[in-house]
Amino acid sequence: MKADLVIANAGQMVTCRSNGKAARGAAMRDVGIIEDGAVAVHGDKIVEVGRTAAIISKYQDADVIDAAGKVVCPGFVDAHTHIVFAGDRLGEFELKIGGADYLEILKNGGGILSTVARTREASRSELSEQTLRRLEKMLAAGTTTAEIKSGYGLNTETELKMLAVIEDVADRQPIGIVPTFLAAHTIPPEFKNDPDGYVDLICDEMLSAAWEWYRRSSFFGKVPFFADVFCEKGAFSLEQSRRVLIAAKEIGFAVKAHVDEFTNLGGSGEMIKMNAVSIDHLDAISDDEVAQLAGSETVAVATPAVNFNLGSSHFADARKIIDAGAALALSTDYNPGSAPCPSMTMAMAIACRYQKLLPSEAFNASTINGAFAVGLGDRIGSIETAKQADIIILDTHDYREAAYEFGGSLVTEVFKAGRSVFRK
Ligand code: NIG
Ligand code: FE
Repeated sequence: MKADLVIANAGQMVTCRSNGKAARGAAMRDVGIIEDGAVAVHGDKIVEVGRTAAIISKYQDADVIDAAGKVVCPGFVDAHTHIVFAGDRLGEFELKIGGADYLEILKNGGGILSTVARTREASRSELSEQTLRRLEKMLAAGTTTAEIKSGYGLNTETELKMLAVIEDVADRQPIGIVPTFLAAHTIPPEFKNDPDGYVDLICDEMLSAAWEWYRRSSFFGKVPFFADVFCEKGAFSLEQSRRVLIAAKEIGFAVKAHVDEFTNLGGSGEMIKMNAVSIDHLDAISDDEVAQLAGSETVAVATPAVNFNLGSSHFADARKIIDAGAALALSTDYNPGSAPCPSMTMAMAIACRYQKLLPSEAFNASTINGAFAVGLGDRIGSIETAKQADIIILDTHDYREAAYEFGGSLVTEVFKAGRSVFRK
C-alpha cells in the first residue's frame, strides 16, 4: 500500500467514523478519537488511520506533516447555505433590532424579496465574485464541503443564472459543492395574487429546466441535485410544498425541505414520508414528528445561527431530536437575512449553549451527519479508509475547544481531497 502524505502526531485524531450510516442518538457522543493518531493519504483518498508509530513505519516514503499534538478532524460539511446573492440586508438588521419581525418584513415585500430584486439585477460574474469571497471565509473556518441553494431568482432566467454561478464557484475554489434548486423559496411579486400560478410554473417549467442544467453540468454523476421548498406561512403551504417536491422527485431530484422554521404546517411529517434526505430548521416540530424522524433515514438539519441572529431565545429542540434516536446535522444557513454566518464552529458554539448539544454531538453533526444530509455520507465526513481526504488541523489539544471558544478560529490548515488548500 502506498501513501504520499501522512499527517502524524495528532494529540487527538477525531475520526467521526460511522458504520456506513449517519450517527444517531447516543452514538452521536462518540467521535472516535485516536490518541497520538496519524492518517495516511494517497492521491485524494485516505488509505489508513491509526497510531502514529504504526502509520509512520508503514508509509516511509510519504511526506510527513507534523500535527504536533494538535487536533486533526474531518473538514466540516455545511449542509445548508444560501450564499449566492447580491446586496445586503443591513437595513433589515437595524429594523429587526428595533423589533421588526422576520415574516412581517417578508410580507411587506422586504426580506428574501429584497435580495431577489438585487440578485435579478446582478450579472453572473458579479454574483460569482461575491460568492467566492464567502466561500473563502468558509474555507478559513474549516468547511470543506457546502450545499448551496438557488432561490433568490424566483423566475426561470435568474434561477438558472444562480445555478450557473454555483457551477462557476465549484470549479474555482477548493470547497466541494452540492447544488440545491430552491425556486420554491417564496412567492415572487409577479405572482403575489396567484401563488398557485407560481407553483404551476415551478412544476411545469422551472424544475425541468434546472434538471437539464444539471445534466450538462460538472456536478452530474458526481453529486446529487436537490430540490428544496420553504414550507411556511407566507411562503408555500403544505399542499404547494408537496406538489413541488413530488414533481421534483419524478424528474430525479433528491429532496430536502425548510420546515417548521416558525410555524408547524405539518411539513416535517409529510417530508419524512416522502423520504426527504434532510428536513431543516425544525423549530416548531411536534413530538409525533420527532418520533417519526427517529424511525426514518431523514437527517434533521439544525440552523441555530438563525435563532441567534434573530435575537430569539427559542431554538429547535435538538436535544429532544437526538435523545429520540434521530440523526442530527448542523449547518450555518449562511444567508444575508436570517444567518450571515460563514462559520460552522460558530454554529457549534451556539448549538452547545442553546440546544444543549455536547461538543462531541456537535462534531458528528458538523461532519459525518452533514455529509449524510447532502447525500455524500459514503464519500466524505469522516477520517476512515477509502474516504476522500478532507481533513483539518485545529490549534488545540482538545477538540471540545472548537465549540467552547467562539468568535475566532482554531483552524490552522485545511486539506481538500489530499491537497493543502489553506494554511494560517
Ligand atoms: O433558511 N427560511 C428561508 N430561507 C432562509 C432565509 C433566507 C433569507 O432570509 O434571505 C433560511 O432562514
Ligand atoms: Fe435556508
